[in-house]
Amino acid sequence: MHDINYNHGVEDAWEADLEQRYPETDYEPDGKAKDAFRNYDDPARDTVREFYRINHERQTLALVKEKKAKFAPGQHGTMGIWEAMEFLDTLVDDSDPDTEMSQIQHLLQTAEGIRKDGHPDWFILTGLIHDLGKVLCLYGEAQWAVVGDTFPVGCAFSDKIVYPEFFAENPDTANPKLTTECGIYARNGGLDQVHISWGHDEYLYQVVKAHLPEEALYMIRYHSFYAAHREKAYDYLMNDHDRAMFRWVRAFNPYDLYTKSDAPPDISALRPYYEGLIQRFFPETIAW
Ligand SMILES: [Fe+2]
Ligand SMILES: [Fe+2]
Repeated sequence: MHDINYNHGVEDAWEADLEQRYPETDYEPDGKAKDAFRNYDDPARDTVREFYRINHERQTLALVKEKKAKFAPGQHGTMGIWEAMEFLDTLVDDSDPDTEMSQIQHLLQTAEGIRKDGHPDWFILTGLIHDLGKVLCLYGEAQWAVVGDTFPVGCAFSDKIVYPEFFAENPDTANPKLTTECGIYARNGGLDQVHISWGHDEYLYQVVKAHLPEEALYMIRYHSFYAAHREKAYDYLMNDHDRAMFRWVRAFNPYDLYTKSDAPPDISALRPYYEGLIQRFFPETIAW
């Protein structure tokens, strides 16, 4: 299955850009990123700039509410977890094998990195599934509404978000109710009340939330929320529970970013172990 709307170059450029913004040598487990915006002089930069120009212009509060309703689980049939991994893998059928790894390889590398460090089963499983929300692309969604850093809508956009200047074109910027620090939300009222820009994080959270421990759900729901987990922005929207849970989001992040250079995983050799792991947490199929 192919998705003609999917442009691999955009996602590759986004992933490469993340690694440049947050190089492994600068990673500190407390979530700090030293000297974050360096190494920007790169051909992929224009692709990423254009991606964020569109993303920041279109991710409004109204758009997020509309997407949440449209993609409430159950609209896209049922699939098992491994089946969803194989479905997602069809995204890269047309890609250049020399320049990028498949989705399933990224998922397995992330999970294997977590497993090697001796983390619990649910953490390994989270690594395995964390990007399955990208099946949105296979439903025909454009990339600006699937991937990229995420951020709250319905309140002021932080200047800690990548390319903050592009929010000038977001219609919400003209609405005074949506441009105060907390906007429509209660100060320190907790992230669960906050609408985050729409993409693969929120979609997968909604699909799997009945099946995994809360720490896993935070990792899935906020793994692209770099302004918070790496830049420490939006503390005024969080409550103490979010702050405690974000330690897990931060623990997850290096496995997502820094396992891509590891040797390609042997998918068929690993499959029995991961099928067993999936079975311990998930029924045979779940609603998408
Ligand atoms: Fe992701
Ligand atoms: Fe990922």
